[in-house]
Amino acid sequence: MEEWEQYFLRNPAPQGFNASCDQLKKFCGQHAGHHPIALVTSGGTTVPLERNTVRFVDNFSAGTRGAASTEYFLAQGYAVIFLHREKSVVPFFRHLNPSFLLNSLQENSEGGLQLLPQHSSQVYPIWKNYQRIMSEERLLFLTFTSLSDYLWLLRATTQYLQQLAPSSLLYLAAAVSDFYIPQDQMAEHKIQSASGPLTVTLQLVPKMLSPLVSLWGPDLFVASFKLETDSEKLIEKATGALKRYKHKLVIGNLLQTRRTEVTLVAEEQSHVVKLTQLQQQEGVEIEKFIVEEVCGCHKKFT
Ligand code: PMT
Repeated sequence: MEEWEQYFLRNPAPQGFNASCDQLKKFCGQHAGHHPIALVTSGGTTVPLERNTVRFVDNFSAGTRGAASTEYFLAQGYAVIFLHREKSVVPFFRHLNPSFLLNSLQENSEGGLQLLPQHSSQVYPIWKNYQRIMSEERLLFLTFTSLSDYLWLLRATTQYLQQLAPSSLLYLAAAVSDFYIPQDQMAEHKIQSASGPLTVTLQLVPKMLSPLVSLWGPDLFVASFKLETDSEKLIEKATGALKRYKHKLVIGNLLQTRRTEVTLVAEEQSHVVKLTQLQQQEGVEIEKFIVEEVCGCHKKFT
């Protein structure tokens, strides 16, 4: 048995998994042949240290890349499955933080609430766009917290897309752990500090891109992200991932410069996307250009 199969045998499906599968089946069936479909994964996976989880190891990601990219895919006419870490950054809502919202409201003469006129011009276009997308049912929100939740939902989504809409796009921006503690080696209850310093041994997570590309979704267009902190390693690692998994695109980024520069690595060529100083000052988001490039490649492929 392959290591990834053992992983799924040893780690049970998340709560509500069947309901998520029903939503996925409906969404894919509804949009197949009408809109191009993209799966966008976003946010970091957690690795619990205890079954009744008090402590966990986290992967770095706020979810900004995935949330912003989702808005740009929707603008390009895609229907989007947004598989994201619970409480991470979410499309549309990301523009409105709670303190801004509370400070933007006033009581009207009927005792109801209304937006202060000076804030309407900022909120209205976001609200209008969100309402339109939701009325077209073009955005499906699915959430995960742990690595295991994520992998179960990733596999299910990939398989439904392969079955119902095989020309779809996967845009894997979530930050996925390489290490974990198998269920049967995990403490049941909160680990006690009375027994002294803690030594934890984490096992390697099988690289799921391998079965994803070759078995679960062989006809899908897969773009994965590669995160490094050492600029010397980035291109080598991104190129290596492309050769190893044989998918279509690796988008390499450095933790330090991820908001302003990425490198798109494809089989024939690699290509840097970088924001100018002026674009940065004007608040242009790099995701706009990444998504345009990815959509261009996806269109050529289909
Ligand atoms: O969310 P933000 O704060 O905006 O940050 C965005 C980002 C930096 C997180 C994003 O741009 C990014 O780089 N995401 C990928 C991070 C990551 O997991 O990189 P990696 O080098 O660890 O993994 C590379 C690929 O292998 C990923 O596509 C991952 O899905 C895959 N993988 C990883 C672990 C694993 N066990 N199996 C896998 O298949």
